[in-house]
Amino acid sequence: MVMENDKLEQVDDDPIVLIVDDEEAILLAVRRQLRRSQVKVVVAKSPSEAISVLSQQDVAVMISDYMMPGMNGLELLALVRRRWPKVVGIMMTACDDIRVAADAVNRNLVKAFLTKPWDSEVLRRSVEDGVRNHKALMDGGGDDAGGSQALAREIELQATSAAFALARAVDARDEYTHRHSEKVALYAVALGKAMGLPDVVLEDLRIGGLLHDLGKIGVPDQILLKPGKLTDEEYAVIKRHPQIGASIVEPMKFSENIHGIIRHHHENYDGTGYPDGLGGGEILLAARIVHLVDAYEAMTSNRVYRDACDPEYIRKEFLRCRGSQFDPQVTDAFVVELDAGRIEVAGKKLIIE
Ligand SMILES: [Fe+2]
Repeated sequence: MVMENDKLEQVDDDPIVLIVDDEEAILLAVRRQLRRSQVKVVVAKSPSEAISVLSQQDVAVMISDYMMPGMNGLELLALVRRRWPKVVGIMMTACDDIRVAADAVNRNLVKAFLTKPWDSEVLRRSVEDGVRNHKALMDGGGDDAGGSQALAREIELQATSAAFALARAVDARDEYTHRHSEKVALYAVALGKAMGLPDVVLEDLRIGGLLHDLGKIGVPDQILLKPGKLTDEEYAVIKRHPQIGASIVEPMKFSENIHGIIRHHHENYDGTGYPDGLGGGEILLAARIVHLVDAYEAMTSNRVYRDACDPEYIRKEFLRCRGSQFDPQVTDAFVVELDAGRIEVAGKKLIIE
């Protein structure tokens, strides 16, 4: 949901102030109180919506609530600090969260905090200070993260936990894909194990499997949840999710495999996939594995537009796409596991040992 304030003299290049709160009344109140400020107000009802806005627009200041379902304000601010370091954060809290907010200021995650109910003059001043800070960051280059290594590590941890929360939020949006990422992670680890890959790669497969569709946070519900066929334009929007996901985790210290899985889990072995059209060995093995088990999980689950496919059809499909969509070796290893009954075709459970 995106609403802009109704100031008549709205100028297109006014700095954007993003307000994130799960209570609509708060969003409306803040928006109303900022009507006379020279800013463009955009609101988001959840951290996921906020990330979607941040991915598409140049936000100057973000005002975030602390207690929100799925992800708390600190995690969101840490993620934003890592990914969009020039966005100035302000936290809005209830009285009993003041210690959290003070901590956020100390950790350089926010420039200010507002206690609910806030004074509208304080709100306006905080936003105007934030806009000035943002402008200084833009003019001066770099960010003012500074701080100790321990602090940077702490921000990294919060940002990582926010990435997982976003991935869970993606799964939760669609009852049909419920727990999709968890299942993909399980299948990827099991297949990697069957292929004799080392533990460190198995851990990458687990994390990459959990995060692979993170970028779907940037795909609107009406496209993601649409029953029936997508138009070309809608499909083009869906196809952006590997890049969006990769850009969200880009500043985080994940392994090359995990970054590769997120960006390249829709690359085909013959080079016809997206987003980069890589082929064969140009695609990391971990991404080739997730590509296959992702398709498997989708085929064995009911979807909004169809029921689960039958086991014999699934087996035939994988063999048909061996060498075109899927890596031949990965496909062979997978079919061996399937035939040996080590993968339950009902898709509910995978026997790992
Ligand atoms: Fe995907």
